[in-house]
Amino acid sequence: MVRSIGADHVIDYTREDPTRSGQRYDLLFQLAGTRSPWDCRRALTPRGMLIPSSGESDGRWIGPLDRLVKAMVLFPLVSQRLALFEAKQSGDDLRLLQELIEAGKIAPVIDRTYQLSETPEAVRYLETGHARGKVVITV
Ligand SMILES: NC(=O)c1ccc[n+]([C@@H]2O[C@H](COP(=O)([O-])OP(=O)(O)OC[C@H]3O[C@@H](n4cnc5c(N)ncnc54)[C@H](OP(=O)(O)O)[C@@H]3O)[C@@H](O)[C@H]2O)c1
Repeated sequence: MVRSIGADHVIDYTREDPTRSGQRYDLLFQLAGTRSPWDCRRALTPRGMLIPSSGESDGRWIGPLDRLVKAMVLFPLVSQRLALFEAKQSGDDLRLLQELIEAGKIAPVIDRTYQLSETPEAVRYLETGHARGKVVITV
C-alpha cells in the first residue's frame, strides 16, 4: 500500500529498526511509533532535521508530549535540528487538497467506511493504532 502511494523504499518496522540500519537521513518526519529522540538522532546526518508529529509514547506522565519535551531539551545541545509540527484546520488547505484530489495528484487511502450509527466501532478501530489510512464515517 505504501509503495502504491509513491514511496521508493519501505521498511517494515516489525522486522527492521530504521534507526539501527546505519543509513542516515537529512530529514525524519516521525508520524507514528515510539522511537525516542535519541534513537532518531542516530539515523540523522550531522545537520539533519527531526520533525516529530506525535506518535505513541511510553511517557508515564504526559504521554506523547514526554517525547517532544525530551527532544526540545536534547536538540539545542547537538548539531542536528528539530522542528515541531502541528496540524491546523484551515479552509484554504482543505480547498487546496480538494483541488489536488480532483486533479488526480493525490489519492486518499481509505481503509474502512462506517455508517454514522457505527461511530463507536470506527473509533475503537482507530484506537487499535493500526488503521491503514483514513477511516470514514458516512453521514
Ligand atoms: N502534530 C499534529 O498536529 C498531529 C495531528 C494529527 C495526528 N498526529 C499524530 O500523528 C500520528 C498519526 O495519526 P493517525 O491518525 O494516522 O494515527 P493512527 O491511525 O494511529 O496511525 C496508524 C498507522 O500507524 C502505523 N504504526 C503504528 N505503530 C507504528 C510504529 N511503531 N512504527 C511505525 N508505524 C506505526 C500503523 O501501521 P501498522 O498497522 O503497520 O502498525 C498505521 O498505518 C498519531 O501519533 C497522531 O497523534 C499529530
